[in-house]
Amino acid sequence: MMNWPDFLSRRLAERQGTSLWRHRQVCHSDGRLLSTADGQYLNFSSNDYLGLSQHPQIIAAWQQGARQYGVGSSGSGHVTGYTAAHHTLEQQLAEWLGYSHALLFISGYAANQGVIAALMEREDSIIADRLSHASLLEAAMHSPAQLRRFLHNDVGSLRQQLAKAGNGKTLVVTEGVFSMDGDSAPLEAIAQQARSTASWLMVDDAHGIGIHGDEGRGSCWMQNIKPEILVITFGKAFGLSGAAVLCDKHTAEYLLQYARHLIYSTSMPPAQAVALSAALRQIRAGEALRQRLRSHIRYFRREAQHLPFALMNSETAIQPLMVGDNERCSALSHRLRQKKVWVNAMLPPTVPPDSARLRITLTANHTQYDIDTLLEALHGSGC
Ligand SMILES: Cc1ncc(COP(=O)(O)O)c(C=O)c1O
Repeated sequence: MMNWPDFLSRRLAERQGTSLWRHRQVCHSDGRLLSTADGQYLNFSSNDYLGLSQHPQIIAAWQQGARQYGVGSSGSGHVTGYTAAHHTLEQQLAEWLGYSHALLFISGYAANQGVIAALMEREDSIIADRLSHASLLEAAMHSPAQLRRFLHNDVGSLRQQLAKAGNGKTLVVTEGVFSMDGDSAPLEAIAQQARSTASWLMVDDAHGIGIHGDEGRGSCWMQNIKPEILVITFGKAFGLSGAAVLCDKHTAEYLLQYARHLIYSTSMPPAQAVALSAALRQIRAGEALRQRLRSHIRYFRREAQHLPFALMNSETAIQPLMVGDNERCSALSHRLRQKKVWVNAMLPPTVPPDSARLRITLTANHTQYDIDTLLEALHGSGC
């Protein structure tokens, strides 16, 4: 019989010394700059796309919420953890995005897991874009439904997979903006395919919400579709953390009865909900920030044409540079750090094999000078 220490040592030895070994580092970031014990860097790895994590009015709202409610929610929303702050935020989100209901979750990961686990049964099918986030694919793999993946953003492949679905319910799953590629899903065509087979569509718009569309309403709004299930997360453009599921009344009632990640988990602190309402106000009024971000994206893409890496098909804040080889990608990230520029290398299994990349993210907090510094560092990285 294998004992526990042997099991751990064996599995650690398999990874140690390979480029897949994951590190954490103590960081302090104000969004634009990031400091560690080794120095200060220009931060091009943050998902704080609008720079709201440091916004004084949002910080003040969190402080005021903590004075009013204390620092924790004291329980699941089904017990004592659903306050006026949670209720107000849900209503504001639903009104903003044109849904009758919004349900708050503690994270995007929990929302995706909770929704798929609650909705899907043995006879059902999940047809997911093959590059969907780990939280979606893992939930699908753990559910009793059959998982089929369609080729990335390929509506023909989706159609083929839909034709193979069984007799149960079918859920089509995709993202608005893909977290590792930065490209956008053809949502209108995907929604049409789903509708033509009476399937439901679930869109995770973690990276599109706050950025795309009128008042930052996201990818679905921009492409004029309304999926049955829309997941938005607050760890990116909102600058905080947490998530919400937008849906109709019937679905919300069902999730309140069956989504175990809601029922058996402490709800977010009410002060966080107060801060999220303040962040929502900034997002709705944040056209100047969105324009600044768009102008950085255009500038970066124009100047990065001259780099010896393939730019990806992305018009969003996520601008990965495809490197391919794991070791080379890690070495490039290390060399950028020596030039005081922080860009994380994304390696398999986070991305598909042989597609290691530098995941560059731009934010409204950067200046054009910062982007020039990044480009210079990339030019001089000996690639
Ligand atoms: C597309 C997507 N969905 C879900 C998540 C998980 O969200 P959270 O960080 O709130 O758990 C992420 C996080 O990185 C993501 O990129």
